[in-house]
Amino acid sequence: MQPDKPEPEGSVEWRSPSNIALIKYWGKQGNQIPMNPSLSMTLKYAFTQTEVKWHPNDGTTQGEFDFFLSGQKVGPKFEKRVGNLINEMAKAYPVLNDLYFTITSLNTFPHSTGIASSASGLSALALSLLSAAQRATGKADEYPRFLQKASHYARLGSGSACRSIYGPYAIWGGGVNTESSDEYAIPYKPHQDFETIYDSILIFSEKPKKVGSSAGHKLMDEHFYRQGRINQVRENSFRLLKALETGDFDVWQEVVEQEALSLHGLMFASHEPVLLLEPDTIRFIHDLNAFRAGKGLKVAFTIDAGPNIHLLYADEHREIIRNFISEWIMDHHLQIQVLDDETGKGAKQLFE
Ligand code: PMV
Repeated sequence: MQPDKPEPEGSVEWRSPSNIALIKYWGKQGNQIPMNPSLSMTLKYAFTQTEVKWHPNDGTTQGEFDFFLSGQKVGPKFEKRVGNLINEMAKAYPVLNDLYFTITSLNTFPHSTGIASSASGLSALALSLLSAAQRATGKADEYPRFLQKASHYARLGSGSACRSIYGPYAIWGGGVNTESSDEYAIPYKPHQDFETIYDSILIFSEKPKKVGSSAGHKLMDEHFYRQGRINQVRENSFRLLKALETGDFDVWQEVVEQEALSLHGLMFASHEPVLLLEPDTIRFIHDLNAFRAGKGLKVAFTIDAGPNIHLLYADEHREIIRNFISEWIMDHHLQIQVLDDETGKGAKQLFE
């Protein structure tokens, strides 16, 4: 990010990954402020690549844009989200009101596979728009400050997107350590044993989510277990960070799995109960438990707000876990997609 002279027109492209939460963000208040802190592992191969081209508009519109996702113009719901993000950014960068944007975006993973396309999509967009704003004004931040601002804007687009900026792990939410904040995520580097963790994502359903994430977060507003959940996250964050720091796979497995089941437990116990798990999700967990009993495998499952399982494991158990997955799928005569991913480094600019 070198300071420059203003560029009235230009283009920029960023690649930003998805992430999988180990400590789950569930519940929010105000302008995308999380009810509790969260911690995620950044993925490597599931990412969105977004190019923003800008030129001066004709002065009759403000912050106008065309957005193409995989070659198709996006629908009104997503357009509104993008428009809102541009408006938010224009408060700090009024130059955005004077520009016309052509935005093209591609995902490396299929839509609705339960991989958070909003996390990679909104973070790639925030990074590209912020680059455009800083280039159009000729005032560039130093790189760490730029990333922090991008994380802040990504959060306004979709909460979990703020964590996708950084790798190998990211923390979002105040009170976890002295630097963590509700406004943006910060990077986190664990013990070397946790620097490369594999993630096989078992896609049990490709149907769109039954409950969108905004409606899901809202369920925590009046939740009977709200305070209990806040207390649980405090303890789980503390335990998981210690495990990630010391290389303790037993505590990692315990906390990661409890977080996934707790997220779904909270959904079951909401005023309007939500059941997103499929029979195969539960069947897989039972069979995994039976298979791994007494073997000391470095493996943990996690699940987001859907039925799909992320199976996380260390390199030394890669073969045994991948064989288990393939055999399990064959034994049950299923035709399901498995996406293989691993820990990634965070977002990256493709060219200036
Ligand atoms: O970023 P959102 O609003 O789509 O919420 C994401 C919520 C979970 O994926 C369930 C948990 C998380 O921390 O990513």
